[in-house]
Amino acid sequence: MERVLSGIRSTGNLHLGNYFGAIQNFLKLQNENDCYFFIADYHSLTTHPAPENLFENTRQVLIEYLAAGIDPEKCTLYVQSDVPEIPELYLLLNMNAYQGELERCTTFKDKVRKQPDNVNAGLLTYPVLMAADILIHRATKVPVGKDQEQHLEMARTFAKRFNFMYHTDYLIEPVAYNFGNALVKVPGLDGSGKMGKSENNAINLIDEPEVIRKKVMKAMTDGGPTVPNQPMPESIANLFAIMKIISEPDTYQFFIEQYNSCTVRYGDMKKKLAEDIIVFTTPIRERIKDISKDADYLNKVAKLGKDKARASATETISNVRKIIGFRSF
Ligand code: ADP
Ligand code: TRP
Repeated sequence: MERVLSGIRSTGNLHLGNYFGAIQNFLKLQNENDCYFFIADYHSLTTHPAPENLFENTRQVLIEYLAAGIDPEKCTLYVQSDVPEIPELYLLLNMNAYQGELERCTTFKDKVRKQPDNVNAGLLTYPVLMAADILIHRATKVPVGKDQEQHLEMARTFAKRFNFMYHTDYLIEPVAYNFGNALVKVPGLDGSGKMGKSENNAINLIDEPEVIRKKVMKAMTDGGPTVPNQPMPESIANLFAIMKIISEPDTYQFFIEQYNSCTVRYGDMKKKLAEDIIVFTTPIRERIKDISKDADYLNKVAKLGKDKARASATETISNVRKIIGFRSF
């Protein structure tokens, strides 16, 4: 039995990238392993959400997790800020995380480029908090998308460094995990890059059919292939990549063959893709609506998750404190 952990920031609705990058793999693991799933609300503070939105965002993400199939009876589903041992471990790990390595992190460099007016220390030490999230439960497998690979490598570095420094093997080096395959990157609909909450190019699990149709029909395409078996430009390759993930293999194959013989009509392809996405998201959307109404259930889930997560976290932090040399008077 493995210890599995994953998390998502509470910064917006879940989209297909989150589902196929992180959640789907977690769902396959939650039946037979010791699994933890959490909502990273501390991480969301780097972008300064308004106090009146902080709780609502967390609540919404919790609802969407549940609707996507995360089972609070099978795994430990909790909110990061309910577990004070995580920020404590973060503080301890920060003492051995170096400015240079944090500044070299690609997600940090990205943020510096995108939000030069808000380069705060929380952004710089984001990978340390993420390492604390993982190491606090001594998780071995972390189902995440491709964009999180470097963060996982940093978590391994921090665990290794701690172990080396204190002559122990207590902290476990986690690996980014995808079921038997390479890590997934679901592309966006805007012709380049990954699908992301802040990129304005995402299809959300909660989107109504009309919204999905509009978004897909607006996706960038070109004039179509003119030579058989011509290589695809990125925007077209992205559409095919989404279709490969969401549609039946026959559908994907059908449009690939049409592309290769220069007979493809992107309008038809997008229509089919939109309908396949709708078939996939509709049951999840309906569950989101149902669960939203059930405040008692949500309270119960959060309370249960908090207790289970703290039981595991207090054990780790107490051992880490002992290893570092803290003693009580
Ligand atoms: P976002 O990138 O939209 O802000 P998060 O950062 O909260 O979403 O990501 C949560 C999880 O979803 C991570 O495991 C991340 O790797 C995964 N993920 C997000 N977008 C994608 C994507 N386009 N393709 C694959 N996985 C993704
Ligand atoms: N950094 C992750 C993201 O942006 C979210 C996250 C925070 C996470 N802590 C984690 C994911 C721990 C896996 C494990 O997608």
